Amino acid sequence: MKAVVKLGGALFKRDPDVDALRSMGKVLSSFASEGNQLVTVAGGGENARVYIDVARKLGADESTSDLLGITVTRANAELFRLALGSIAVTKIPTMLSELIHYVSPGKVVVIGGLQPGQSTNAVAALAAEITRADFLVNATDVQGVYTADPKKDPKAKMLRSVSVDKLLSWAMAGDVYAGRYELLDPVALKIMQRARIPTRFVSMEDPSNITSALRGRDIGTLVSYS
Ligand code: UTP
Repeated sequence: MKAVVKLGGALFKRDPDVDALRSMGKVLSSFASEGNQLVTVAGGGENARVYIDVARKLGADESTSDLLGITVTRANAELFRLALGSIAVTKIPTMLSELIHYVSPGKVVVIGGLQPGQSTNAVAALAAEITRADFLVNATDVQGVYTADPKKDPKAKMLRSVSVDKLLSWAMAGDVYAGRYELLDPVALKIMQRARIPTRFVSMEDPSNITSALRGRDIGTLVSYS
């Protein structure tokens, strides 16, 4: 199969967790070694937010702050590429047009950010569209999509499925500042909507959740299209 996996910032700690990177690398490289074509997208994590905060304090505009965030996502992509070992393509593409030249069955391409004004979730949606992926898994530090932020609201309930329209209405109401794109930014959702990309949100706490979702298990939250 052809798949895209967005690895949320939780995998890329301020002080990177070598064991966590290694175990994620092991699970995803074994999935690709079965002949699957995989693109993994590295988020920015805490370091992106720290650098963006400092840049802002130094007077940077939002686009400059986004560019700094992108630099950090690419550094994270390099770390994850190393965690994957020889199954990973050495080059970290910096343009969508490059990506299509690097994907192939049994290989993993790692990519970070692309351009200001969006998050790595948009990169994942664009990567899924252009590689005609069968499935996009968005791995975060919570189990799926909730009715409210589960870290702030104890009454928040996880949804087994959520419509892309609902996600869009939440995204439009949220912030689009560097380092603070909401759950999914509008660019990501518009791409998912137009390409009708089958997408599931799962927790990355156990890396095998990602491969279970790719193999069709009903875990986390599935995105529905009208
Ligand atoms: P993300 O916000 O996607 O990383 O990228 P994250 O914090 O790891 O994401 P989640 O919350 O876990 O999903 C970090 C920052 O890099 C810039 C943005 O400022 C973004 O907030 N960025 C990333 C871009 O400007 N363009 C991109 O294509 C990707």
